[in-house]
Amino acid sequence: MIPKEILDEINSRLNIKDIVGNYLSLKRTGKNYTALCPFHPEDTPSFFIFPTTNTFHCFGCGAHGDPISFIQKYEQLSFIDAVKKAANLAGIDISKYLKKRELPTELQIFESYHNKYKEILLNLPKSHPAWNYLIKRGISRDYAERFELGFSNGSLKSSILDDFDLPPTLGSELGIIRKDGSEVFNNRIIIPIKDDFGRVVAFAGRSINNEIPKYLNSPENKFFQKSKILFLYDKAKNIIKREKYTILVEGYFDAISMHINGFENSVAILGSAFTANHAKKLIKLTDKVITMFDMDAAGQNATLKSFDYLLSYGFQVAISQYNTKDPDELIKKQGKNGVLKALENSKKFYDFIPEYYKDKYNINDEFGIEQYLEKMAEWYLKFQKSKHAAILDTFIKRISLILLKPENNIKKAIENILKYKKFNKKIIPYVSQTEDSISSKQKNIMSLINNLYGSGLNTKDLEII
Ligand code: CTP
Ligand code: MN
Repeated sequence: MIPKEILDEINSRLNIKDIVGNYLSLKRTGKNYTALCPFHPEDTPSFFIFPTTNTFHCFGCGAHGDPISFIQKYEQLSFIDAVKKAANLAGIDISKYLKKRELPTELQIFESYHNKYKEILLNLPKSHPAWNYLIKRGISRDYAERFELGFSNGSLKSSILDDFDLPPTLGSELGIIRKDGSEVFNNRIIIPIKDDFGRVVAFAGRSINNEIPKYLNSPENKFFQKSKILFLYDKAKNIIKREKYTILVEGYFDAISMHINGFENSVAILGSAFTANHAKKLIKLTDKVITMFDMDAAGQNATLKSFDYLLSYGFQVAISQYNTKDPDELIKKQGKNGVLKALENSKKFYDFIPEYYKDKYNINDEFGIEQYLEKMAEWYLKFQKSKHAAILDTFIKRISLILLKPENNIKKAIENILKYKKFNKKIIPYVSQTEDSISSKQKNIMSLINNLYGSGLNTKDLEII
């Protein structure tokens, strides 16, 4: 809400005669002015301006008001937009009221706690375990400020909620304050999780002393769904556009370290799967992705899973190659050059797949080869259904080089497998981004069909059909 005194101040600084005069030609009549009313058709002026009261009034249609309402009515703006415009003309800064007004209460709460958490961290002595921890991880005071890290020492409790005069349950619903009044993130580094517009919608709390769990994350709320948010997206989005590709990592500190080391086009999934929503968000910025997930089995699985949506949204995908646990460790051990090398050595998805699976099966054995080829057939179909069908020949060539068998044989074998195996269920076909309206039409048709006949499709599949 913009306080009434501020609205009065804006109105009083604007001269109604000047404001209306910007739009209409005025005629003086005594101490007042008249014009043809802009709000109803007329041939003789019944629209009056009264400088003494700083108002306008139309005796024809009844339109009436002050400078702000003239701007609103004439320019057909919302009230708030008219106030913004009027404040600008009046030279009054109303940004602080707008922010409060536009930020939903939940996010005001996150913002207020976040501000305090940042302050607490910055005021801790250098020797505090939180700073020891951060410094050990390469996060100086400057970087902590840049990524707006904070610290919870348990001193805030529900004080901020009390300021908002809200039911105490909101604190626990948002996952900030426990029912007993204590702080959820006590003794943890606070990492703000922001939405695409840079608003804090959740916190992650990193333990500094091997406390379990390593990370605590806010529960999902109206503004925070893991499947829709990418960590550091708000900082990275313009850089992704400029660099024309994005780097996808798994962890908070992976993303932070990448940014610190100049790879500011990096974003992180929030410790869960890469989703259709993530793909939809990124494809607006670029169609090139290099994945840099952890090197452990979970990271490799995440890499493979991410292909489904990356391919269906038409991304050109490459997989970086490095041999530490994760990008953060790569940077600690090999610095920026380690990352550059990992990116340079990245493999295109159709090179990666045959290589990756060759170690998963015993390809010295005919039975192992059969299983390997079945896997390749599954991917063959995925590529075929993607925008990248043109790479199928290259894909076959890579397999033939691995198995040391002629390309023709490989192709035939894969086609045979596809004849008797049904992989179609798992495959998400390419989604054209230029035909959004058509895709929503298709969605409607799909749900109609589902209603009529029932379907094995789940909502995830439907989302991107
Ligand atoms: N994660 C989480 N909760 C956990 C563990 C992990 O939310 N208990 C998420 C975090 O986003 C984390 C990511 O999964 O950054 C990757 O997990 P992991 O590789 O285990 O963590 P790192 O990022 O390597 O953590 P750190 O570097 O802080 O040890
Ligand atoms: Mn990791």
